[in-house]
Amino acid sequence: MASLTIRKLDDALKKRLRLRAAQNGRSMEDEARTILRRAAGEDVRAEAQAGKRRGARRSTTEQPEPAPGAGGKRALLIIGGGIAAYKSLDLIRRLRERGAAVRCILTAAAQQFITPLAAGALAGGRVFTDLFDAATELDVGHIRLARETDLVIVAPATADLMAKMAGGHADDLATAVLLATDRPVLIAPAMNPHMWEHAATRRNLVQLAADGVSVIGPNAGEMAEAGEAGTGRMAEPLEIVAAAWTFLGVAGGDQVLAGARVVVTSGPTHEPIDPVRYIANRSSGKQGHAIAAAAAAAGAEVTLVSGPVTLPDPVGVRTIRVETAQDMLAAVTKALPADVGVFAAAVADWRVEKPTASKIKKQDGGTPKLGLVENPDILATVARRNSGRPKLVVGFAAETDHLIEHAREKLKRKGCDWIVANDVSAGSGVMGGDRNTVHLVTADSVESWPPQSKEAVARALVARIGAALAGAPR
Ligand code: CTP
Repeated sequence: MASLTIRKLDDALKKRLRLRAAQNGRSMEDEARTILRRAAGEDVRAEAQAGKRRGARRSTTEQPEPAPGAGGKRALLIIGGGIAAYKSLDLIRRLRERGAAVRCILTAAAQQFITPLAAGALAGGRVFTDLFDAATELDVGHIRLARETDLVIVAPATADLMAKMAGGHADDLATAVLLATDRPVLIAPAMNPHMWEHAATRRNLVQLAADGVSVIGPNAGEMAEAGEAGTGRMAEPLEIVAAAWTFLGVAGGDQVLAGARVVVTSGPTHEPIDPVRYIANRSSGKQGHAIAAAAAAAGAEVTLVSGPVTLPDPVGVRTIRVETAQDMLAAVTKALPADVGVFAAAVADWRVEKPTASKIKKQDGGTPKLGLVENPDILATVARRNSGRPKLVVGFAAETDHLIEHAREKLKRKGCDWIVANDVSAGSGVMGGDRNTVHLVTADSVESWPPQSKEAVARALVARIGAALAGAPR
């Protein structure tokens, strides 16, 4: 019988064999023997069992699965193939620090950037890489990987991985798991700014958001490629952890806004003309209410000052209902001090100077002249306070044109820290609708978030606020 010399194998084959051997904690010779034995039809189940028994002697890639930690939560982290994969190693550590049990899947491309050994050592367990690995399928299987978790995180989510997700592909372990899972999925995109802006990626994002996938980042800044800058950097591990924790709704000290006091304004204001008529706008309050709910779920003590809306008061939130801008300012002032103020209300800019006590009658002659005066600017009043200003003041900018330009101008004029800018032009469906496309504008950056539900915008914003309070870069 001819002998087989590993040295004589071609380079590509040798590389694959070395990788498999490392994943399975075998020598290359042992791995080759195992493959041949399997090909010869030996009982693979027996091999998988033997593999389990060998577990103690194996590398970290085949250690038993970690049990959920103090947080009692499990996260499945799918690492895609981009330079940001190195940050995902830190993400594993950060998730485990907070008590989550982390299982990792590395795509083939991810293994060009980081090794299963490194991910496994940090996760304290076996790393999964291969859809057609018999031992994996008999032992855990992609369906169990998809289900035995509370949250699936994809970081970095490359343009290619996002395209496959949007298209429902399942030709490797990562995509098969993503298709098989019924758990929430959070993706942290990372790619070159041109790839992020490409029409195909925008289309995929819209599809993913419609499929219920939540997105954190990407952030703006310098790219790994020399001289490239723009939006495409993966969100920082702490930001991703904060978003994950908001999702998991973990009770206890790990909540991103635990102990923080948050004041939120929401809805329109009604400015009376007479006892039956008023000036108003189309705001439904959905976005502001969703933010208040998400902040409460993240452990904050929330006061929601709401204009007239038809929504129920969010659970776990102290809700104060007001009618006018003046009432709203008074209620907000009373709710201070707070760590964070989020001003999502569509406050009427003007009120009628002298609302009449009785109904204005047509017979009174002609058309009534409504003398208008400007309402107080609640956001600017709070942001410009000398004492008792919240650490973080977030405004909204509802615009129909020149969105970013106007948002930047508002940020300066009102003295707030962030502006969440949204396009409310006719046809955008934002006013009164369930979805929102926003841009997070800070003093030195603009982050464009994909279209998503107002709840998803709220969770993402709360995650960012949590990270900012924790000292992450704003
Ligand atoms: N805002 C406020 N009080 C007001 C007007 C606006 O607190 N009297 C807040 C809103 O809650 C929002 C931000 O200011 O966070 C921007 O609101 P927007 O209506 O977009 O801006 P305006 O200042 O009203 O400017 P303009 O209508 O000219 O765009």
